[in-house]
Amino acid sequence: MADPARRGLLVTFEGPEGSGKSTLIRGLAERLEALGRPVVTTREPGGTPVGERIRSVLLDPSLPELRPETELLLMVASRAQLVREVVLPALAAGRIVLCDRYADASVAYQGAGRELGRARVDALNDFALAGAAPDLTLLCLLPPAAGRRRFGDREPDRLERESAAFHERVYAAYLAMAGSGDPRFRALDATAPPAGQVDQAVAHLRGLEHDLLAGL
Ligand code: TMP
Repeated sequence: MADPARRGLLVTFEGPEGSGKSTLIRGLAERLEALGRPVVTTREPGGTPVGERIRSVLLDPSLPELRPETELLLMVASRAQLVREVVLPALAAGRIVLCDRYADASVAYQGAGRELGRARVDALNDFALAGAAPDLTLLCLLPPAAGRRRFGDREPDRLERESAAFHERVYAAYLAMAGSGDPRFRALDATAPPAGQVDQAVAHLRGLEHDLLAGL
């Protein structure tokens, strides 16, 4: 069962806008690093020089003409680069990769939000992932209206500006993942205080029973 090319662990974090994923990832990385575990944190879209340039196009509110199909292909392009440049080498080196959004975000945002359909997104994700499937995906669940309130006065980006109906479809897709029965998905209560969310995440990680998590 042990894959020699995959000694590490890949944990991904998903959820609607404003669900506090970055704070959670920082807190969890600190807990793992305090135990001396090798952690790599990264994000999508982005995480590589190429991916960060793609991200700036994807989130630019001055490009409203960007089509759903183009958006999907750019998300997947950033992912293909991240997998090959960061994720696969880190897994081969036995590191714990914490990734802020990953393939499931395309299922939720482009498949459901943009209504491009699941089959198309799955096929493109397969191509981008090259087998680098997550070991665990933590779903930070927060209703869209609550997430919007967390933006404060900041200018919303191109996706944050989307309609309430779009964000409801995204949220429904994440809820469906949480209820799918697939053990890879674990739901977190994103309304809990940050320290409580880290504790919830740690409990889910322990469930993986991986050597890299001994003593966590
Ligand atoms: P962030 O706000 O969590 O950094 O994510 C950037 C935005 O990109 C967020 O609105 C979700 C969106 N996104 C997609 O629409 N599809 C994807 O595949 C990914 C990775 C992100």
